[in-house]
Amino acid sequence: MPSSALRAAVFLDKGGVGKTTATAHLGVALDRHGHDVLLVDLAGKQGDLAKHFGLWADVQTDDDRWPNITTVFQDEWETIVKKLPAAVEDLVIPTGEGPDLIPAHESLDGLDATLGNIDDPEERYNRLEKFLSGYIEDDYDIILLDLPGSTSNIAYNGLWAAKHVVAPVRPGPFEAGQATQLRRDLKTIRNEQDVAIELVMVLLNEVDERTKAGKAYLEEFQTEYPDSLAPVQISSSQDVQNAQMDGGTLFGLGRPSQTAARAIEAYETDAQVLVERLRGGR
Ligand SMILES: Nc1ncnc2c1ncn2[C@@H]1O[C@H](COP(=O)(O)OP(=O)(O)O)[C@@H](O)[C@H]1O
Ligand SMILES: [Mg+2]
Repeated sequence: MPSSALRAAVFLDKGGVGKTTATAHLGVALDRHGHDVLLVDLAGKQGDLAKHFGLWADVQTDDDRWPNITTVFQDEWETIVKKLPAAVEDLVIPTGEGPDLIPAHESLDGLDATLGNIDDPEERYNRLEKFLSGYIEDDYDIILLDLPGSTSNIAYNGLWAAKHVVAPVRPGPFEAGQATQLRRDLKTIRNEQDVAIELVMVLLNEVDERTKAGKAYLEEFQTEYPDSLAPVQISSSQDVQNAQMDGGTLFGLGRPSQTAARAIEAYETDAQVLVERLRGGR
């Protein structure tokens, strides 16, 4: 295993497309493939990733949890770790399904503005990268970042640190042109940050190929992203939400339904291909 972890940011400038679900399921699939996986929830104070693993109640009881994910972005972080070597360990909790998790914290809310006050763009965007390289990545094979569904300074830190994007997309009411929009957004981000960011995987979520709209949607992405499209689409399954409400992924279901089994298989295949692409063997 390489000493520096592979990294991917799960990102799309849009909410409700399946980012958190993909982060959790790809993470567990990768763990089952034998990798040491860390998930980082940067997606907002609501703590969806911890909820996905049934951990939010525990995380929240500890109201003044400190250090937390926001701490690693602060000017004082390096001083804190020097004084408190256990600070890094204190950030991480096991999900119970294999991967480790650095959960979100309510203070993520104010972090975007704090970062916005830093004048030098490099300083503003490289804080997560510094944290991952300096303090955490030796312990893991793969780090997946669950990013906000907007182009905030926090999202930029995630993109800067990972340089590789997994973009879940799902057909919605304004679906036409989503593929083109995604391409445009990534171009803007590349220009603004002046870093190379590669779209390694477009993950199609809940596309119904039997409908005309679903078919057109699929074709749009096949044309625009012949190399990035995930090999298997994620089928729709009621069990995704059922499992989430029970605080787990589909992988934890004792008797998965047929739709759940299909989604599980899709995540497993796509996770494997993701690793290959991150290693550059595409
Ligand atoms: N394959 C799927 N089948 C059915 N529901 C899904 C599937 N993937 C995601 N969902 C549901 O879609 C909603 C949005 O997903 P989520 O991962 O929270 O999106 P995001 O993080 O992009 O906001 C959630 O309620 C989730 O349970
Ligand atoms: Mg989310």
